[in-house]
Amino acid sequence: TQPPSDALVFFGATGDLAYKQIFPALQAMVARGTLDIPVIGVAKSGWTREQLVERARQSVQEHGSIDEQAFARLSDLLQYIDGDYNDDATFTQLRQALGGAQRPLHYLAIPPSLFGPVCERLAASGCTQGARIVVEKPFGHDLESARALNATLHGVFAEADIFRIDHYLGKEAVQNLLYLRFANGFLEPLLRRAGVREIQITMAETFGVAGRGRFYEEAGAIRDVVQNHMLQVLGLLTMEAPANQGQEAVRDGVARVFKSVRSLTPADVVRGQYAGYTREAQVAPDSQVETYAALRFEVDSWRWAGVPIYVRVGKELPVTCTAVTVVFRDPPQEVFADVAPHTNFLRLQLTPGVQVTLGLNTKRPGAGMKGQSTELTLHRQEASGLAPYDRLLTDALAGDATLFAREDEVEEAWRIVQGVLGDAAPLQPYAPGTWGPAGADTLLAPGLGWMDPDPDRGTAVPA
Ligand code: BG6
Repeated sequence: TQPPSDALVFFGATGDLAYKQIFPALQAMVARGTLDIPVIGVAKSGWTREQLVERARQSVQEHGSIDEQAFARLSDLLQYIDGDYNDDATFTQLRQALGGAQRPLHYLAIPPSLFGPVCERLAASGCTQGARIVVEKPFGHDLESARALNATLHGVFAEADIFRIDHYLGKEAVQNLLYLRFANGFLEPLLRRAGVREIQITMAETFGVAGRGRFYEEAGAIRDVVQNHMLQVLGLLTMEAPANQGQEAVRDGVARVFKSVRSLTPADVVRGQYAGYTREAQVAPDSQVETYAALRFEVDSWRWAGVPIYVRVGKELPVTCTAVTVVFRDPPQEVFADVAPHTNFLRLQLTPGVQVTLGLNTKRPGAGMKGQSTELTLHRQEASGLAPYDRLLTDALAGDATLFAREDEVEEAWRIVQGVLGDAAPLQPYAPGTWGPAGADTLLAPGLGWMDPDPDRGTAVPA
């Protein structure tokens, strides 16, 4: 096992991510007993330590709930360095603040354009000895920039000390996906080409870009959530069983299946943009950025050859919900004429709650052989368990990289989506509150529409 980190340095301490996610996670970690080391916030806001503590309190109140005892302990641990990320003096101060720390963890919750300069200055000021680094998404803008970023990080840190965040991997439900697959023997023979007709993964959100117009203009839906979150889910769903419980086993499995995923071409994608997007703040009036994407993936492996995997993601859709639906093949011959097609499926809802349902046909009670399509809830859990940032930062401090994207995974994921980035495919408009452009249906095999991700809406297929 790795020695635990003995200081947490946190760049971007006055930023939006810190406010929405990180302070609530830090308080939770203190309360759970997984954080009891100096926490050094760094930012350039002209603030004092007291102002940062006050901001942390507001953050926890708004995005969590205050636990006075844990918060008091957190504020005792909290230090603050106010300084420019391009100024050597900031890093000299940081070196002093680190004191005798042997294994600091540097967490870069800052724009990726600053990763390089910050790494270099950390190294030049002697802050990287024995250190680990956590980097936020987006990890690059395309394959080439991701490779360049990996090279920059490797100039200073070994791969084992680099933790690339994909907060989806910290979700309870995503971990459950792995557990469900490999803790139950009966699923194994079902999850392969012999029994599976197709797989659909939907990540729907009812809101728009929500004040993040500037970021979104640089990204678009494919870079924002497909290259990372959706491909990680696809990887965990389609990978072979991990060889052991070690940190590389799951990452090996995902990296290996990624290598079998075909590179997408424009014919595999439908891009959409919701009406009104171009009127959002900091969005170009003629923006061609997609807020919706539907994609068709193919995995060239013995397990999955010929099974299409459809992914659709979008803003301003009818529900906020992420779900994976594995659609099984219909019975090979018709014995009962009333059986509706595509009614056998396994659905794993990943957000907002954890839910596992099985679609099956049962006989309607009474005379005659008439049936009904039912959904059997196998597992339902409202509580979401640990917040992703709590889980992920705790793991990174302990040196456990299982739930972080490895260099090869990230590069393969970019290779897969590279051909459909930017305006590779034409943009189709859609009205807010709908399921995106009608053109998305043309990607699907004839006969089966998009599956509704939300079982509580009571219908498997959108009306
Ligand atoms: C982020 C994306 O990574 O994930 C956002 O940048 C998206 O656009 C968010 O809304 C969704 O995450 P969650 O945890 O709310 O499902």
